[in-house]
Amino acid sequence: MTSRRQVLTRTAAILGAASTGLVPSARAQNAKIRIGMMFPYTGTFAQLGLACDNGFRMALEEKGNKLGGREIEYFKVDDESEPAKGVENANKLVQRDKVDAIIGTVHSGVQMGIHKVARETGVLSIIPNAGLHAATRALCAPNVFRTSFTNSQPTLALGKVMMEKGHKKAVWITWKYAAGDEAGEGFKEGYLAAGGTIVKELGLPFPNVEFQALLTEIASIKPDAVACFFSGGGASKFIRDYAAAGLAGKIPLYGSGFLTEGLLDDELAPSAQGIMTTLHYSASLATKRNDAFRLAYAKRFKMQPDVYAVQGYDAGQLLLQGAAAVNGDLTNKKALYTAMENAVIDSPRGKWTMSKAHNPVQDMYLRVVKGKENVVLGVAAKALSDSGAGCKLG
Ligand code: BEZ
Repeated sequence: MTSRRQVLTRTAAILGAASTGLVPSARAQNAKIRIGMMFPYTGTFAQLGLACDNGFRMALEEKGNKLGGREIEYFKVDDESEPAKGVENANKLVQRDKVDAIIGTVHSGVQMGIHKVARETGVLSIIPNAGLHAATRALCAPNVFRTSFTNSQPTLALGKVMMEKGHKKAVWITWKYAAGDEAGEGFKEGYLAAGGTIVKELGLPFPNVEFQALLTEIASIKPDAVACFFSGGGASKFIRDYAAAGLAGKIPLYGSGFLTEGLLDDELAPSAQGIMTTLHYSASLATKRNDAFRLAYAKRFKMQPDVYAVQGYDAGQLLLQGAAAVNGDLTNKKALYTAMENAVIDSPRGKWTMSKAHNPVQDMYLRVVKGKENVVLGVAAKALSDSGAGCKLG
């Protein structure tokens, strides 16, 4: 017969091992890990949301759909890129569905809602796209990790490239919301430092695509070049309207790579030739890792992956590494976060690591549209880290 003393000793041993992550806790053994997927599955960013979702699922499928040995279960919310519903939608996942982690989202304004809920409840939040600065700067949090970029990261390297091409006076144009404004901050910092002058900043509310009046204004200003942030369906419309207004080939167009990412089909490509962008990924990166990823994704989803798919895939890789370190016990937060902070992600974009503020330290590529490809011309910024200004972690 087992004595009370033996039972207590064994229990203490199990608890001790569980807290060090050596064996799964009772919960880890029995329950599925609940994953909340919060993305725009409709609207201007629908294609981006789907790609992030696909990428994440593919990373987990490659490892048998298990996290640290535990089965998983998905819960899904369409956030519609609607900031006003951000908190409510995140709470659906946390309070109603009791998820262990939220994977999402695309739009910076909606991310602010998820971020508020993550900070208040402590739920693990992995951001596979939205670049709002606050999430990994002043409002950074131990339970929030990003596998994409900060909004100013891709545009920081753009200004130097434009000045090297002799474009001394530029117009900046964007959607007026956090992502556009912060991409503008990055552009301004790099372009002014390289000696350029921004002669006009133009904007319109997200997701408005009535570009005509603004393009007429650009034509009258006659800058050396135009730089911008647009993405998804709006980016495609901007490129077509830019060409239709007679500006393509006359006033060179630059942008963060979202402008042309995942959009270069037969219809759009003729209007996009020569557009130069900076981004942390390109389909044309000639590495074994990228080739293998692209092939597997195309087979699985019958479509081509883009940067959003890569970021979702890396969110999956990050969670896999974290969960493995704690044998699936996501309540062992200290060990989980340490493993995620120290993760080296073998990404299709190239290997990257986490900054202290939980944002990727990564290369930025210079790309030009040729045919239907964003052809890589070189590395515009090596191992670029966001400032993480105001973040008090680690
Ligand atoms: C954002 O809102 O943060 C965002 C959306 C699309 C592409 C890049 C950033």
